[in-house]
Amino acid sequence: MNLDTTVCRATNVKFEVDSSNEVIVYTDKGRFNAGHSSLRILERCFTPCSVRNLLEEMVDPDKREASKEILRTLKVLFSSGAIVESEGSGLSSSMFPFGGYAAPFVQTKMLNDVLRKQIYLDAIRDLVKPEDIVIDLGTGSGIMSIAAAKAGAKRVYAIEPSGAFYCAKENFRINHVDGVVCSLKGWSTDVDLPEKGTLLLTDLLGNDPFDLSIWELMSDLKKRAMASSCRLLPEKIELRARLLSVPENVLDQHLISERVLSKWQREYGIDFSGMRERRDSSRGWLEKPLIVDSWEKSADNFLIGSINLRDDPHGFCYRVEIPVSRGCWNGILIYYRAQIGNRWFSTDCPEGSRFSHWYNAIWTIPERARSSDRLSVEYRYLGDGESCVSISSASGGRN
Ligand SMILES: C[S@@+](CC[C@H](N)C(=O)[O-])C[C@H]1O[C@@H](n2cnc3c(N)ncnc32)[C@H](O)[C@@H]1O
Repeated sequence: MNLDTTVCRATNVKFEVDSSNEVIVYTDKGRFNAGHSSLRILERCFTPCSVRNLLEEMVDPDKREASKEILRTLKVLFSSGAIVESEGSGLSSSMFPFGGYAAPFVQTKMLNDVLRKQIYLDAIRDLVKPEDIVIDLGTGSGIMSIAAAKAGAKRVYAIEPSGAFYCAKENFRINHVDGVVCSLKGWSTDVDLPEKGTLLLTDLLGNDPFDLSIWELMSDLKKRAMASSCRLLPEKIELRARLLSVPENVLDQHLISERVLSKWQREYGIDFSGMRERRDSSRGWLEKPLIVDSWEKSADNFLIGSINLRDDPHGFCYRVEIPVSRGCWNGILIYYRAQIGNRWFSTDCPEGSRFSHWYNAIWTIPERARSSDRLSVEYRYLGDGESCVSISSASGGRN
C-alpha cells in the first residue's frame, strides 16, 4: 500500500462496537481489535479512494497523536483484509443472511422472479427513447440498466451501493453496453450527476411498497438530478386488501391465544397467561406468497388508497370500511399494485408474484369477521419507509 493505492471496504466485513469504544472487525482472516477510528475509515472507504485522499481528509497535522492513531488503524484494517486494494470484489462470501444485496441468494431470488422483472423490462423497452438519460436507482445485477441501454437510451447512470455494483459493471462490459452505462458506486442520495435524467427507474418496492423508502429516494433524485418533465418507473402505487382465512396452526405462531396458553400449560405445567394478547389488537407478519396462495381468500379486493410517486413524500392515513359479504375471515392481506409503464404489477397472489422473494403482509382480525360485519382498516404511512396498519370493527361488534 502506498499513497497512490486506491482502497475500499471489502464486501464481507462485519464489526461490533461496544460502549467502551472497542471496535472488533471480523473478516475472512479472523477477528481484529481495530480501535475507535476504524468506523470513520470503514465508512469513508465504502466508496474507493486513494490513500492520499483518505489521509488528507482524516489527518489533522495539528493533532499528532490523533493522526498517528489513524495511520495505525489504517494498517490494521488493511492487514486484516477489511480494506482492500483497488476495486472491491463482487458478491459476498458471507453466509446468508449476511451480505445484504451482495448475497448471491438475494440476487438469485430477484432474477428468478421472472414475472416481475419481465414487466419492468417490457416497460423499459416501451418507454425508452433515443434521447433518454436514464437513471437506474439501485441497479443490483444491472438488469434494468442493460435493458435501458439495449432499448436505445443515450446514456444510463446505474447507481448501486452494495458489492453487486462490481458484478453489474462486469455485466455491462460483457453485454457491450459499457459505452452507454456509467456505473456509480454509492447511495443515490450522495451522487451528483453531470446531466439531468429524463427517465428514473427503480425496483425498490419492498414487502410493503414503501419500506425501502422508494418514495423519498425517488423524490430526492427527482429534485436534484431529473428534468422537470421526467418519467418515472414505477409511477403510481395502489394499496389494496383482501380478506383471508388463515389456518389455525399458522395463527398460533403469531397470536398468543387461549389455545396456545393451554398447550404450554400442558407441556410445561406453567401458566403463561401474562403473555396473553389484548383482544382488540391486530398482529401483522410477513408470509411467503406461495403459502398465502394456498389459503382461502375473499373474491373481492378493496382499495385502501392510491399514491402518486410524483407527489412529494408525506405521511398519510387511509381508513376504509370493508363490508364482509359472505364467509368467515380471521386475517387481511394488504398488498400493492404498482403501475409500471402501462401495466400494473400486483403482489397479490396468484395473479402476482407467487415465486417472488418478497413477502406478503398479513394482519389478524382479532375475532373472526362474518357476513354483514364491517371492518375498519387503517393504513398509516409515517414517512421514511415506516408504515403501520390497524384493524377494528366498524360495526361496533365483536372486534
Ligand atoms: C430490490 S433490489 C433491485 C435490483 C435490480 N434493480 C433489479 O431489478 O433486480 C434494490 C437495489 O437497490 C439498492 N439500493 C438500496 N438503497 C439504495 C440507495 N439509496 N441508492 C442506491 N441503491 C440503493 C440495493 O443495494 C439493491 O441492489
